[in-house]
Amino acid sequence: MLRKAHMFKKQSGSYLHIGSSAVILRLALLTAVAAISAAMSASAADDRNPYAGDAKAAKAGEYEFRINCALCHGLGAHGGGRGPDLTRAQKKHTHNDAEMIQVISNGIPGTVMPANGTNGQGVGMTDEEIWQIITYIRSVEVKASANSAGDARHGKQLFYGDANCSLCHSVEGKGGHVGPDLTPVGGSRTREAIIDSVRNPSRRLAWGLTESTKEFPQEYETITVVMADGKEIKGVALNEDNFSVQMMDASEQVYLLEKDKLRSFKKSRDSMMPIYKPDLLSDKDLDDVVGYLISIGVK
Ligand code: HEC
Ligand code: HEC
Repeated sequence: MLRKAHMFKKQSGSYLHIGSSAVILRLALLTAVAAISAAMSASAADDRNPYAGDAKAAKAGEYEFRINCALCHGLGAHGGGRGPDLTRAQKKHTHNDAEMIQVISNGIPGTVMPANGTNGQGVGMTDEEIWQIITYIRSVEVKASANSAGDARHGKQLFYGDANCSLCHSVEGKGGHVGPDLTPVGGSRTREAIIDSVRNPSRRLAWGLTESTKEFPQEYETITVVMADGKEIKGVALNEDNFSVQMMDASEQVYLLEKDKLRSFKKSRDSMMPIYKPDLLSDKDLDDVVGYLISIGVK
């Protein structure tokens, strides 16, 4: 078990405000995206898949998928670094073919899921090609039972209790902020990827995918600084430019520091998250925690 101890003491009211010009820019961007989406959805009028169950279309779709989607959703649609596993029968945004062609045509605003043709890869696909991709996705889906999930209720107890995840992570608004909000993680990452994040936190650092105040996602790197007076602070990077850095330490204290006033500044790819070896969190308990995160993520 991790001990709660002193390093996790919480402090309130520690958030800083992000400049309002960034917010306005973002609003303008969202409006533009919405306008484009509206224009594009008109072209995806018919929402029944003309190729449903057609093996040849699935093959063509697999080819398209590899070019346009595998970068994020992985080969075989099993999920990759940034996109969810699409072989899971129970999906989050897309409960039928009509929703699926909408999502693939228009993207999912506020996430990195791009609208068709905006991925920097040519002119985009025709509706016909998108239907082929959907046929492909349907052909690789596995029924939920084959993906047996852990005991979500026990997982929730562990998350907020003995496993101490909630000291650093929030789910549905409850918990800490040193690590990313894990509300969407079960809907957007595979079981294997989540397990790997817990067993080997530093192998692939999380991106701040869901932090809507940021124009660009930033990795959760660990920063250690020594201030002019010799005091050392260690925390996660929230924002950084050439001159300043904004960081949060394990007690959720936020610092905005000018780099040229620091005695030293070090960035590292060793996660702030502790490595949970099986003697700290058994495979069975981890399965339950992942089951909990997935039950939240696919809601
Ligand atoms: C740049 C990365 C990226 C690319 C490229 C990408 N996606 Fe996505 N996609 C995502 C992410 C991230 C999500 C999840 C968004 C969320 O829920 O936060 C997603 C969600 C989806 C969903 C919804 C899944 C659900 O649970 O309902 C579908 C379907 C999908 N993508 C299909 C595709 C297809 C087909 C392509 C290629 C034409 C594609 N995506 C290309 C990142 C990507
Ligand atoms: C001391 C703080 C701390 C604790 C305790 C902690 N984490 Fe983390 N966690 C982090 C930080 C910081 C990151 C971002 C860097 C990284 O990816 O390792 C992170 C990343 C993650 C990610 C990756 C998220 C993504 O978007 O890919 C998952 C999943 C995760 N943690 C799950 C857990 C679970 C489950 C527990 C409890 C068993 C836990 N964490 C306990 C700090 C913590």
